[in-house]
Amino acid sequence: MSTKLSINLHKLARFTNTAIPVLALLFFVGGWQISFYFHFLTVPFLGLTFLNTYYLLGQRNHSLLRNFGILGQGRYLLESLGPELRQYLYSGDTEERPFNRTERREVYRKANNIDSAASFGSQNDFDATEIKLRHSLFPISKEHVLPYQMAFGEERGIQNAYTLTVPFIISGMSYGALGQRAIRSLARGIAQTGGLMNTGEGGYPKYHLMEKCDLAFQIGTAKFGVRNEDGTLNEPLLADLAAKEQVKMIELKLSQGAKPGKGGMLPKEKITAEIAELRGVPMGRDVVSPTHHSECEDYPSAVAFIRRIQDVSQLPVGIKLCIGDPRQFAELVSEMKRQDSFPDWITIDGAEGGTGAAPKAFIDRVGMPLFPALKSAQDILLASGARQRLKLVASGKLINPGSQIIAFCLGADAIATARGFMLSIGCIQAMQCGSNTCPVGITTHHPRLERGIIIEDKALRVANYVHSLEHDLEELLCSTGARSVKDLSFDNLYVPNESTLYPFANHN
Ligand SMILES: Cc1cc2nc3c(=O)[nH]c(=O)nc-3n(C[C@H](O)[C@H](O)[C@H](O)COP(=O)(O)O)c2cc1C
Repeated sequence: MSTKLSINLHKLARFTNTAIPVLALLFFVGGWQISFYFHFLTVPFLGLTFLNTYYLLGQRNHSLLRNFGILGQGRYLLESLGPELRQYLYSGDTEERPFNRTERREVYRKANNIDSAASFGSQNDFDATEIKLRHSLFPISKEHVLPYQMAFGEERGIQNAYTLTVPFIISGMSYGALGQRAIRSLARGIAQTGGLMNTGEGGYPKYHLMEKCDLAFQIGTAKFGVRNEDGTLNEPLLADLAAKEQVKMIELKLSQGAKPGKGGMLPKEKITAEIAELRGVPMGRDVVSPTHHSECEDYPSAVAFIRRIQDVSQLPVGIKLCIGDPRQFAELVSEMKRQDSFPDWITIDGAEGGTGAAPKAFIDRVGMPLFPALKSAQDILLASGARQRLKLVASGKLINPGSQIIAFCLGADAIATARGFMLSIGCIQAMQCGSNTCPVGITTHHPRLERGIIIEDKALRVANYVHSLEHDLEELLCSTGARSVKDLSFDNLYVPNESTLYPFANHN
């Protein structure tokens, strides 16, 4: 006889499926013959008997339930608890995606104003895959670092040029993707730092405006907030918005890293009456934005459209895109040169970027990751002589100083992050942004869940996060001997495997 213990699930299921009705019968007889109190168990066991019979004989959708009955539900139960079990119990500190626990913890500590210094040693790889910063033999001290200042629009000499004084921008996230309390927390927090928040493509930025922070208003492909009936740009509406004191810049979104070539998407579960009104869309169905702006059918029309938005808004105007083929980016820059018309900045969004909702294939497989995309954009702009005509903003998992400094060396003038700021206000990476069930109340409009957000407290965390990032950037600059991010370049990087940064190699 074997002495090993094991569970035979088939036998256990057969036993359970027999035991449930038998127990129901026994309790019924007990209640009838011995004491009425047995019926307290008769009722639940009768319920279980009916349910189990339905699983085994009635329903047709789930083979597991047809074969195993109620025991099969155990699989679904454990599967639904899987993310939490893995996150809290089983996954190592550097295992989870998109952000592992170490990365998230660094943001949380910064947001809570706790020193994020680590001990004993790095948990990162020191093999041939990781890019590192080259420090100088002669670091400088903090007094020699220049205050960060980046004037957007200065290249065109416009009157309304905007000087960014905080290098970390809250990347576009619409009211719709985020709930109003999350938006207000971010807006209030960034206002305390003097930084900039991008509105995302959610239409009229009602809640952003409430908190008096500087804003970049984003025009997505559906042009929520500035659209005509036929989906084209409504110039008077744009001019009105641009005239608002808080709206400092306009960003035209051509594409987004998490879903390039696909328009934005707001699932119907998240469309409240107010959101429907602010965006000018119906309730009860998913809102899917067009894949592109009807005004941007080719290179000449795209460049002309950017120019038109500059003319209408009289503000600095940037474009946001994820690079698919650097040769197309080069062609776009050539067209800008041909028309002698440039956006005031370009945001390069890496394919690793986040989203409120997008098809999985797009999230996983479309677009170039940030670092090679940024490197090629910078090289193309330098080679074409266009680099001094505009600024570069980088986004794509740049939530911590270690990755941010690399982006600066690859050419970024400023960093935008969405999920870094979400984490700063308590995001736990529950990965439920599209379902209106966000457990910490950030990407939901459910009042019971939003209740968890105390705007004042969360705003303080946003400000702490920014200040701590500024502090770390300053220290990293000192280590390189550079006085400002403008002095950083590719030469400041140790890149063990340069082929990862040369996307053109793919075309040979
Ligand atoms: C919840 C959520 C909503 C977003 N909404 C928008 C949007 O409205 N417009 C946009 O251009 N990008 C949107 N993004 C993408 C971010 O702005 C950003 O480009 C991307 O997440 C990369 O930054 P990150 O890796 O720091 O999050 C969204 C991202 C998230 C997570």
